[in-house]
Amino acid sequence: MAGSKPDIVRDLPALRDAIAGWRRDNRSIGLVPTMGALHDGHLSLVRCAAQECDRVLATIFVNPSQFAPGEDLENYPRDEAGDIDKLAALGTALIYAPGIAAMYGEGFATEVRVAGLTDKMCGLSRPHFFGGVATVVAKLLLRTMPDRAYFGEKDYQQLLVIRRMAADLDIPAEIVGCPVVRAEDGLALSSRNAYLTASERAIAPALFETIAAAAERTADGAACAETVRWAANELAARGFTEVDYVDIRDAASLEAVESWRPGDPPARVFAAAFLGKTRLIDNVPVAPFE
Ligand code: PAF
Repeated sequence: MAGSKPDIVRDLPALRDAIAGWRRDNRSIGLVPTMGALHDGHLSLVRCAAQECDRVLATIFVNPSQFAPGEDLENYPRDEAGDIDKLAALGTALIYAPGIAAMYGEGFATEVRVAGLTDKMCGLSRPHFFGGVATVVAKLLLRTMPDRAYFGEKDYQQLLVIRRMAADLDIPAEIVGCPVVRAEDGLALSSRNAYLTASERAIAPALFETIAAAAERTADGAACAETVRWAANELAARGFTEVDYVDIRDAASLEAVESWRPGDPPARVFAAAFLGKTRLIDNVPVAPFE
């Protein structure tokens, strides 16, 4: 119920007990996996889950295996008390917040690897990332066995990887993608936005503006290679310190697209770029197709 404190469990037997009770009562379960530091993007997933499922279960776990050495694991924003309040206000029934040992037991030696979708874009610059995500999300889905699990389209490549993994491993949850939530100036909400200095924050919306303009050029028939070059130059000119990639790809397979015409399969423009040490990612559809 909105406002009442959700139960917080940290160990697997307690999690399984709660879920078994819901199952006995024939309740549908919506899972919202998070790494905490919740913002309106996460909360939109919780709202969506609450509309479609009888019980919402949110997880908070900063997953070490999706960070490479030297990335921001230690500094990753954490605010469990604040997260609990936000989840309570939306009527979340249960929060699962295991420690590292409760997630990865002694001798843990398994990695879930999704081929194909992961050998491009973020998979090239962060080769450890999708193995870490696919493994922890597989574990969360198997531990909770939800009817539906909710992920943001800001991490669009992650969403497709998780969908592929769940289908390939016969995990019966529906993987639901929810639209990107943006600040008023267009910046996609992300926990990592908290790292931005005031001057970097002022530049950051140029990421969305640039890929939105690139999507429009593509929809108008411009060659993708030329548009990608334009967008990368534009990001550098607008103050991004390093452009990791700009790509225009098929929205389902993530295969590269050379050009796009109305009636072609949906495509999206993807970008990752640095402002100082902070890496931002974003994506938009080439033309509205949802
Ligand atoms: O998108 C995230 O917050 C994380 O990658 C996820 C899906 C919770 C797995 O740790």
